[in-house]
Amino acid sequence: MEDPAQAFLLDVLKHRSASPCPDTQPYVTLSFAQSLDAKIAGAHGRQLILSGKESMIMTHWLRTMHDAILVGIGTALNDDPQLNVRYLPHPPETPYNLPRPIILDTDLRLSPTCKLLQNYQNGKGRRPWVICAASDDATPKPKGTSASTTTAETTSTGHHQYHPSEDIDKLLRKRSLEEAGARIIQVPTSQRRNVQGHADGTASRHLSIPEILTVLRDLGVRSLMVEGGAQIIRSFLAEPVVDVVIITVAPVLVGKDGTGYESPVVSLPAEGASPSQRRFVQKATRVFGKDAVVVLEAVTGGQSV
Ligand SMILES: NC(=O)c1ccc[n+]([C@@H]2O[C@H](COP(=O)([O-])OP(=O)(O)OC[C@H]3O[C@@H](n4cnc5c(N)ncnc54)[C@H](OP(=O)(O)O)[C@@H]3O)[C@@H](O)[C@H]2O)c1
Repeated sequence: MEDPAQAFLLDVLKHRSASPCPDTQPYVTLSFAQSLDAKIAGAHGRQLILSGKESMIMTHWLRTMHDAILVGIGTALNDDPQLNVRYLPHPPETPYNLPRPIILDTDLRLSPTCKLLQNYQNGKGRRPWVICAASDDATPKPKGTSASTTTAETTSTGHHQYHPSEDIDKLLRKRSLEEAGARIIQVPTSQRRNVQGHADGTASRHLSIPEILTVLRDLGVRSLMVEGGAQIIRSFLAEPVVDVVIITVAPVLVGKDGTGYESPVVSLPAEGASPSQRRFVQKATRVFGKDAVVVLEAVTGGQSV
């Protein structure tokens, strides 16, 4: 018999099974937990367990329904997540689909001893893929890793120039991650303004989300679950790539010092917006334990995309 959370998710994601996955990019589900005041973590990014047991089980069902699950390096370093399905009934009659963990990590800051790599080494998880900047990427960096900054210089335009020793540092980090079992995938970076929280208008350098999705689709990923954190949520919402957003809303208030994601998209039609502008509208809402789970789907001009 289907679990209620599993049945709910199969229903909200049924359009996926009804139509073939595009060749160009995977189906993208953005899913995270937030407080009533739209915070996903505490002050200074302190991890908060917002979801109750029932909605956590829903999230783990959701993971089984995706080929891969993606987080940013901020989350990987802060929370050391496992991204597995350990809250589901055990043992299952048939093995659950374990999504492949993917970390967006421009400069390969991931620790080779993180739980994702340990689980892979112990046969308890799939091989993590770490997506970093292409080695010939010439885009200037706004910040460096601890190793990189020591060798950086600033030009008159405010851009950083890097010495070959940085490449060596990155190569060494790449090697130790590969030795720990990670697959490293390189993609180009893009410059963005104001999307990544740089309110002063400065540009930041980030891995290009459309490029990542093209690469992942080429590697056979048909469905991708994006779990955060704050910057990753913002970056995915800033591109026309997310099909469904599933938010667990916990009945708590975190306060102004909590970490928010400041959505760059809206649900209601914005004044003066073009009819083709993508927005997200409510598709379903269900209560799991103490939490409300709200499903939003992308629409353009009133039509589902
Ligand atoms: N409530 C929830 O459901 C939930 C879920 C997940 C995480 N969280 C919380 O979120 C917090 C972490 O959020 P965060 O914003 O600090 O980190 P994050 O979003 O996990 O990762 C951000 C980092 O990813 C890298 N990155 C590479 N390409 C990127 C792109 N295109 N767009 C954005 N980032 C890109 C950047 O670092 P580099 O430049 O070094 O690559 C960036 O600093 C933690 O407190 C965690 O507990 C909450």
